[in-house]
Amino acid sequence: MSLIKWIEFPSLGDDRGSLVAVEMGQDRAVPFDIKRVYYIYHTEQGVSRGYHAHKQLKQVAICVAGKCRMVLDDGKTREEAWLDCPTKGLVIEDMVWREMHDFSKDCVLLVLATEHYDESDYIRDYSDFLRQASQ
Ligand code: TYD
Repeated sequence: MSLIKWIEFPSLGDDRGSLVAVEMGQDRAVPFDIKRVYYIYHTEQGVSRGYHAHKQLKQVAICVAGKCRMVLDDGKTREEAWLDCPTKGLVIEDMVWREMHDFSKDCVLLVLATEHYDESDYIRDYSDFLRQASQ
């Protein structure tokens, strides 16, 4: 099964412009509850981010402006996708290594997360990640 899983948000735009509503909960576009929202923007050119996995945290990443390239790796396969569409959210499950590259200057990457920030949930060392992912 592919690591790249998209959620498509209906576009509620009209002749004035575009609008996307992201609703959470059962039978909604995002099927889990969100405790935290953060966004990454003004990323310096040539900078890559991420390089970690989470033990127990699901996220949905939505590029609401510009674009960036997301690499996901579950310890067995590595896949990548461009995030460049405000109506598409990329689901990132727990125990998935993520890297973000090639941020455009105007990129605003919005991330919805199922848990509050907790540094102890991060795995920041790739060999540790491979070890834990294979258990
Ligand atoms: P980090 O998750 O390492 O960023 P990225 O994966 O995008 O490179 O976070 C960068 C810093 O910001 C780190 O010191 C932790 C802090 N941070 C918070 O305090 N709260 C948060 O919700 C997030 C995502 C990061």
